[in-house]
Amino acid sequence: EIVDAALAEKAAPLAEKLVADQVASKLTAQDPTLWGPDAESESAIRLSWTTLHKSSRPLIGEIAALRAELHAEGVDRVVLAGMGGSSLAPEVITGTDDVALTVLDTTDPGQVADALAGDLSRTVLVVSSKSGGTVETDSHRRIFAKAFAASGIDAARRIVVVTDPGSPFSKLAEEEGYRKTFLADPNVGGRYSALTAFGLVPSGLAGADIARLLDQAAAASDVLSADSADNPAIQLAAALGAAHAEGAEKVVFADTGSGIKGFGDWAEQLIAESTGKLGTGLLPVVVEGPGAPGFADAKSDATAVAIGSAIEPAKISVTGSLGGQFLLWEYATAIAGRLLGINPFDQPDVEAAKKAARALLDNPDALKGGEQPSNVDGT
Ligand code: PA5
Repeated sequence: EIVDAALAEKAAPLAEKLVADQVASKLTAQDPTLWGPDAESESAIRLSWTTLHKSSRPLIGEIAALRAELHAEGVDRVVLAGMGGSSLAPEVITGTDDVALTVLDTTDPGQVADALAGDLSRTVLVVSSKSGGTVETDSHRRIFAKAFAASGIDAARRIVVVTDPGSPFSKLAEEEGYRKTFLADPNVGGRYSALTAFGLVPSGLAGADIARLLDQAAAASDVLSADSADNPAIQLAAALGAAHAEGAEKVVFADTGSGIKGFGDWAEQLIAESTGKLGTGLLPVVVEGPGAPGFADAKSDATAVAIGSAIEPAKISVTGSLGGQFLLWEYATAIAGRLLGINPFDQPDVEAAKKAARALLDNPDALKGGEQPSNVDGT
């Protein structure tokens, strides 16, 4: 619901155009030409996330079987080594279902020490990385492999990998004989991967109800695929596009009691990395706790979203199931990307930063001399 009347008025013609162009149904049909006439050949337009509520179904049984095996061995503590697109969704899913998941998403020594302080005899480590080479995630894998071995535990039996086919981690998992590898669809980007193995394996192993999550997404998909001005993804994308056209720079997420924990952090990455490039984009800002009521309206169960500059904030409010919310924001962000004239599926600066981190590790002398790799520019 677009609460702000002025924003609603500006968004309406954009929504009409999106309906006339059949953007929602084309997106569901994974038509890359939505991002330009030559886009068919562009492997960077990665759209398989629109049908994950169907294609991810087989994971439900696979994850349940692995969880049952692990429980039979007394292993019921799940630690996730992963970051960004490989950690935020499982954190939201487990947080919402109120099941425990220990997440290692930084190299903060305190975070690592806390994770190691848990009972290793009951621990399984999920190493989750789409690229299969993120330095921080790999460090956590190494640290845990050593810690397992030091406790007399067969590390290979306690490490589960989620990655893309052919990635360095998929090869490593084979060489090391890790317990199980879940290979995800490379045609789904990290920040759109909530309903792939990246979101489902850690949360499902921890005990979250992932079947219900996919059911929720399936129900939402019918609504979000419709070329209709009532489609909330069309409305949300049009609101984002209209606000941006008016010079808005920020999207503020204020959770006003939705029960969906950490959702703003997930959406923050989705919007920031999808729209924030080529000198344009919307900067997401998450407000939780006492700051949030300032953005709340009468709807106590809403995740309120204020869009705009600090001077003229406009407001929309969003409600719905978690599976539906994931899909709603993915649709809206992808469509908003089209309105902003950018490809919402690539992340050139993230890739550059990863390469730079690797380059520094491969050439530690560069750090001593204060020399910087040339490709970190602005990331
Ligand atoms: O959106 C992105 O691409 C990033 O935030 C990644 O999700 C993050 O860097 C983790 O990457 P990976 O899953 O390859 O380890």
